[in-house]
Amino acid sequence: MDVNNPNAQERIDQLIKEINRHNYQYYMLDNPTISDYDFDQLLQQLIDLEAAYPELRRPDSPTQRVGGEVTKHFESAEHLYPMQSLGNTYSQEDLIEFDRRVRELLAVPPTYVCELKYDGVAISLIYENGVLIRAVTRGDGIRGDVVTANVRTIRTVPLQLQGDFPPLLEVRGEIIMPFSSFEQLNAEREEIGEAPFANPRNAASGSLKLQDSSEVAKRGLDFKLYFALGEQLPGSTHFDCLQKLHEWGFRKPDVMEKVTDLHEIYDFLHIWDEKRKTLPYPIDGVVIKVNDFEQQRQVGATSKSPRWAIAYKFKAERVSTKLLSVDFQVGRTGIITPVANLSPVLLAGTVVKRATLNNRDFMTEMDIREGDSLFVEKGGEIIPKIVGVDTDKRLPDAQRVPFVTHCPVCGTPLRQAEGEAGVFCPNADHCAPQIKGRLEHFIARKAMNIDSLGEGKIDMLYSNGLVKNIADLYALTYEQLLGLEKVIEDESGKTKTLSFREKTVQNILSGIEISKQVPFERVLFALGIRFVGEVTAKKLARHFETMDAVANASKEELMTVEDVGDRVADSITEYFNNTENLGILMRLRDTGLQFELDKEQNRAVSQILAGKSIVVSGVFTVPRDTIKELVEQNGGKNVSSISKNTSFVLAGEKMGPEKRKKAESLGIPIVSEEEFRAMISE
Ligand code: IVH
Repeated sequence: MDVNNPNAQERIDQLIKEINRHNYQYYMLDNPTISDYDFDQLLQQLIDLEAAYPELRRPDSPTQRVGGEVTKHFESAEHLYPMQSLGNTYSQEDLIEFDRRVRELLAVPPTYVCELKYDGVAISLIYENGVLIRAVTRGDGIRGDVVTANVRTIRTVPLQLQGDFPPLLEVRGEIIMPFSSFEQLNAEREEIGEAPFANPRNAASGSLKLQDSSEVAKRGLDFKLYFALGEQLPGSTHFDCLQKLHEWGFRKPDVMEKVTDLHEIYDFLHIWDEKRKTLPYPIDGVVIKVNDFEQQRQVGATSKSPRWAIAYKFKAERVSTKLLSVDFQVGRTGIITPVANLSPVLLAGTVVKRATLNNRDFMTEMDIREGDSLFVEKGGEIIPKIVGVDTDKRLPDAQRVPFVTHCPVCGTPLRQAEGEAGVFCPNADHCAPQIKGRLEHFIARKAMNIDSLGEGKIDMLYSNGLVKNIADLYALTYEQLLGLEKVIEDESGKTKTLSFREKTVQNILSGIEISKQVPFERVLFALGIRFVGEVTAKKLARHFETMDAVANASKEELMTVEDVGDRVADSITEYFNNTENLGILMRLRDTGLQFELDKEQNRAVSQILAGKSIVVSGVFTVPRDTIKELVEQNGGKNVSSISKNTSFVLAGEKMGPEKRKKAESLGIPIVSEEEFRAMISE
């Protein structure tokens, strides 16, 4: 029980009970007994209480199941056997070396099995008496997230084995998203204004972490088996074991070949480097494994990876395709980005039609001419990159592609800021993409976090004339929003009408209302002042404490704040000198936004960490931002990456293995949450 508020625990328990009852009514009985709005209010009360009393947060709290930061929490479990990774190579020389080492350690020459290297998320499936009881992600290799309910939705994962399976069996494989599901998912996301996933791997990983497994079921995930572990594995070889797993209910790998020498391995990888273009799912290489279990044991493993297997990764795929035209897009800050429209071409499983040309300097350096053929490359990431011009295909007197001189949307003459690569449209207040961009920035998670709105909805509000600036959001009414429509056209030219229903409207309005509690430093960031990022906004807020003080500060005063240089100070001054902005700020103040620092929350508790640079990594008993606040309240400085100047790494559970390795190699101390709490309570 919390000594400051003996009622907090009681209220939390009561809220949890009430919310669980409503969830049951809603999800199980399909018969809600309160409005969504009232439900959200209850949930918000619980979120607020848990934020105020993190030590009272219960692991079974329903806040762990709803959208947003607090919910990204899965139970973790230790793996029965560590989940190692594979040694990677891109070169045939390394394969020669791998084969030589294996042969050196064996009395009898090995047989290898060649497989595809699926590009997804590794998963461990635990079967007890033939029943799938747990599915765990790789995590840091020792512990991972328990995602059983989500994995159960994947049809190719058997829930119950058949035949003569052992009492305990662990099966490992990869959860992947086929290209067709990936494209459909991204098309849907773009339609509702959500950012598309960069590649099928990210999409698979994001899907596995969804809270609602019925949503996961719609994502079209697939499971690719690649080995089993346990005391009583069937057969004495990897190949036979996978055959047996097929009898028990798993699908056989689509490709699996036994080979005995390097030439056959080369053949396999050359064939699949080509054939992967026709596969319906992504692979990023092939895996070569010693087949015989006893031989695997003889060859052994390092602490990180087995010596009996190696992954050969394919190089980024590259194609040449024709440049059809160049579009010029206008961003939130008015910066113009040229985008190439390309003759559609298949590249690493997806059709590429567009790719960024970055900025004017990039186009000049590449010397891009009308009708050129461009080389496009796609590496691990799905975002295609233009890497050069195929000059062999250039027409004799092709002209340079000109860069626009006027804003393609509002027609204002473009300007180039001194010392910057980008060209921009200076008509910030009346140029549509800039207005929409600012609104999108304002509602973003790290700004006002109004997640009931997104790019698509902002576009609807703007195109219906309901919002022209961020203050207009707070004047929206239920009547204005209900039934608001937008006609969208899909690729085949078919039109569809989207319209806001009651629940959507209530969500939007409550999201906007809740944002009035967002602390001052994030409000300052949300304004979208050029060059004022999240960190600078925080420093300004701490220094000046009120919006008025920031607005009235001279350039010199602004520059006394860490990180604020000439350019940033000018930009802040310019923002607060603009009468349109001042009008917006007045309306925001009247609507109740936080224009002052919450000193209680930001108060310095001690200077015990003064002069220390600390990297916070992993999962803690409270949200990571709370830990970072503790660092600052005790005089420490949060930094994001480990260097020789880092004082210590504050490691929660599941800190990334790369970070750990780096800290160890630089001799930087690693401190646990418990040790940290002891340190600051001294
Ligand atoms: S065998 C000891 N086989 O690639 C690890 N892995 O670092 C044995 N992967 O994390 C893994 N396809 O997620 C194996 N056919 C395959 C694979 C495969 C993809 C992934 C796996 C692992 C990573 C290698």
